[in-house]
Amino acid sequence: MGLRDDVYRRSLKTALDRIDLLAGSKCADVGAGAGDISFELAHWVGETGRVYAIDIDPMRRNAIADKAAKFTQVVAITQAAEELALPEPVDLAFCRFLLVGVVDPALAIAGMAKIVKPGGWIVAQEPVTSSGRVGHHPLKVDTEAIRHPDVGLDLVALMRGAGLEVVDTWAEAPCGFGESDVVSYLEQMTEAEVDDGDTVLLPPLLCAVAKKAG
Ligand SMILES: C[S@@+](CC[C@H](N)C(=O)[O-])C[C@H]1O[C@@H](n2cnc3c(N)ncnc32)[C@H](O)[C@@H]1O
Repeated sequence: MGLRDDVYRRSLKTALDRIDLLAGSKCADVGAGAGDISFELAHWVGETGRVYAIDIDPMRRNAIADKAAKFTQVVAITQAAEELALPEPVDLAFCRFLLVGVVDPALAIAGMAKIVKPGGWIVAQEPVTSSGRVGHHPLKVDTEAIRHPDVGLDLVALMRGAGLEVVDTWAEAPCGFGESDVVSYLEQMTEAEVDDGDTVLLPPLLCAVAKKAG
C-alpha cells in the first residue's frame, strides 16, 4: 500500500463503516490512481463483488491491472469521471483526492451520480488544503498547481447540485510528529521542513456521504 493510503487510511475505514458496504456489492473507485482504495474496496466486497478502478490516465490502468491479478473482482478501466459508462450500475461510487484536480468538480460528481443504482451511495473524500499546519504555521503548498485546493468545503453543494441527498459529513486529518509516516508524507509531497518539536496536521479530508434517490 502507498504512503498516502497509510496516512489517510482511518478516514477511508470510517466512511466504509458508515455505509455498511456488503459482500457482493459493486463499486467504482473514480480517479483510482495507484489503486489503494480499489484494493481496499475489493476486500470489503469479496470475490462475489466487483470494483471498477477508473482513471483518466491509461498508465494507471495498466499498473492496477498488473496488481489485479490477485483480485479478480477488480477491473481497471480508462475513463474520465465526467463521462463514465460502465457495463452495470454500481452500489457505490467513491472518490478521494479526485475533485481537487479536475477542471469542473460538478461534472465529475454528476458523472459519478449517473453510474450509481437508485438508492446507492456516492462518497467523496476531498481536502481542505488551507487547514494544514506545521506547528502553528499554515502548510506551504503550491496551491497554483492544485485546481481546487479547498474543494472539500464544496462537497455538500456539489452533491446537492447533482440531485443527491447528503446524509453525513465529517472531516478527519492525519496528524504526527518526529519520525512518523505523517511527517515523511509531508516531506515527500512538499518542500516543508519540519522541526523535531513540530506537530504536523495534514490537510483534513472532508468526507461527504450521499444517497441517490431510490
Ligand atoms: C491525486 S490522485 C488520487 C488517487 C487516489 N484516489 C488516492 O486517493 O490515492 C488523482 C487521480 O485522479 C486521476 N484523474 C484526474 N482527473 C481525472 C478525471 N477527470 N477522471 C478520472 N480520473 C482523473 C489522476 O490521473 C490521478 O490518478
